[in-house]
Amino acid sequence: MRTSGVLRRNMCLWRFVLVICLCYVVVVDGLGVNWGTMATHKLPPKAVVQMLKDNGIKKVKLFDADSSTMSALAGSDIEVMIAIPNDQLAAMNDYDRAKQWVNRNVTSYNFNGGVNIKYVAVGNEPFLSSYNGSFINITLPALQNIQNALNEAGVGDSIKATVPLNADVYNSPVSNPVPSAGQFRSDISGIMTQIVDFLSKNNAPFTVNIYPFLSLYGNDNFPVNYAFFDGATPIVDNGIQYTNVFDANFDTLVSALKSVGHGDMTILVGEVGWPTDGDKNANIGNAYRFYNGLLPRLAANTGTPLRPGYIEVYLFSLIDEDAKSIAPGSFERHWGIFRYDGQPKFGIDLTGQGQNKLLIGAQNVQYLSQRWCMFNPNAKDLSKLADNINYACTFSDCTSLGYGSSCNGLDANGNASYAFNMYYQVQNQNDLACNFQGLAMVTTQNLSTGSCDFMIQIASSSSSLGPSLLGLAILTLLTLLL
Ligand SMILES: *[C@@H]1O[C@H](CO)[C@@H](O)[C@H](O)[C@H]1NC(C)=O
Ligand SMILES: *[C@@H]1O[C@H](CO)[C@@H](O)[C@H](O)[C@H]1NC(C)=O
Ligand SMILES: *[C@@H]1O[C@H](CO)[C@@H](O)[C@H](O)[C@H]1NC(C)=O
Ligand SMILES: *[C@@H]1O[C@H](CO)[C@@H](O)[C@H](O)[C@H]1NC(C)=O
Ligand SMILES: *[C@@H]1O[C@H](CO)[C@@H](O)[C@H](O)[C@H]1NC(C)=O
Repeated sequence: MRTSGVLRRNMCLWRFVLVICLCYVVVVDGLGVNWGTMATHKLPPKAVVQMLKDNGIKKVKLFDADSSTMSALAGSDIEVMIAIPNDQLAAMNDYDRAKQWVNRNVTSYNFNGGVNIKYVAVGNEPFLSSYNGSFINITLPALQNIQNALNEAGVGDSIKATVPLNADVYNSPVSNPVPSAGQFRSDISGIMTQIVDFLSKNNAPFTVNIYPFLSLYGNDNFPVNYAFFDGATPIVDNGIQYTNVFDANFDTLVSALKSVGHGDMTILVGEVGWPTDGDKNANIGNAYRFYNGLLPRLAANTGTPLRPGYIEVYLFSLIDEDAKSIAPGSFERHWGIFRYDGQPKFGIDLTGQGQNKLLIGAQNVQYLSQRWCMFNPNAKDLSKLADNINYACTFSDCTSLGYGSSCNGLDANGNASYAFNMYYQVQNQNDLACNFQGLAMVTTQNLSTGSCDFMIQIASSSSSLGPSLLGLAILTLLTLLL
């Protein structure tokens, strides 16, 4: 059937409106996301960049400067913080190596249609107590070399080197545990003073990662409401009321900076967020509550008592990463506001207006077939079952099985099936990966129950990205205009 001219013109108008509306998705000013890639099956970088665009996200923080990620970001105008991993810090103590890094990973993308790099993160939480001081002596020289190389390359005015630090680099004395008494940790106070001086000299920001979730994790005496932004009994410091640990933590840093003569230094929050699985406090309800408190405050430029106003913040994180180390805890693999496959987990409003709804997920994701691996109920010899589960979990992600997690309610057979399936999916459903000495078998029945999702992995080679809705709309519009 042919569409009449009028109808066609109406459709055209409608599409035009659609384009306008999509272009007006604007997130909270200054809001960015962390894009980590420690996953066994990564989404194609182009699909991830399209997700950022579709959801109006204009800033992204990376953990390296991987060329496929950078190519996908090229031409997008998204502001990028690229990074030098901790294991490269020692190398960057050599100025020539630092110059090479800047040439290859910054300057070469600095052209019209290239990547809009704003920051270089030198290391990632290098002074974390659990690193036992391994990076204490090599972080400042690496920072200096990178900023100096940026300056020498003529981009130092617009691209700043910074060191994302964990909030454990500062604290308040046990005798006076209030934000106004903030100071840098005693074992690193000398080096922190030098770092802050250097950042200040170059007009570079201080970057800190703040985790209210971690205040709660493993501390049953912590007042739960204080981790969120609603309903806590205030803690009073010099007449200032603190109603949440985020503000208190941020202001402890402001005080620490003030104590070394830099109370006005710009602070970026490099990471903040809430995980959705892997601990009794890590679930979708708590993540929803956390973001539903955080984002409206950012949108309103509330700031903190000692720093009212705008704060640049990067959410942690964009997508779940099933290959992250779980040394800090099982929740580490569940920080994403999106699942491993780029699908949204819960309603959230990145504009901070409290109109929470599902974000736009990754488009055209290719999955493996509808096949799961399960415990074979006819297996006779169960003596090797524990060993096989252990093996499966060592080489895949079983963090949803633990106490308080989404699959904790499974029975013993369910546990075995879950572990076997996770391994089978990591191995791209290879038949040989669903045997486990005769204890396992393949099924086409979805084994998911209640909150426990028996996942199907994405196809590793899922690189074919179809046109997005926006792309389609623009294409249609162009076609109709021409
Ligand atoms: C550029 O960054 C990539 C990815 O992080 C890294 O592997 C590479 O060594 C860097 N290039 C140079 C010349 O340092
Ligand atoms: C730090 O020291 C502890 C205890 O001595 C040790 O278990 C851990 O492996 C060390 N970590 C690093 C990163 O060296
Ligand atoms: C760092 O340097 C100090 C002073 O030179 C030295 O005492 C310390 O052992 C060094 N630490 C490491 C981890 O190399
Ligand atoms: C299932 O596995 C989890 C995690 O390993 C464990 O806590 C739970 O007790 C197991 N359940 C059964 C019924 O074996
Ligand atoms: C399996 O079933 C669950 C609901 O129980 C559903 O959410 C999930 O999407 C299904 N998985 C697949 C791959 O179809």
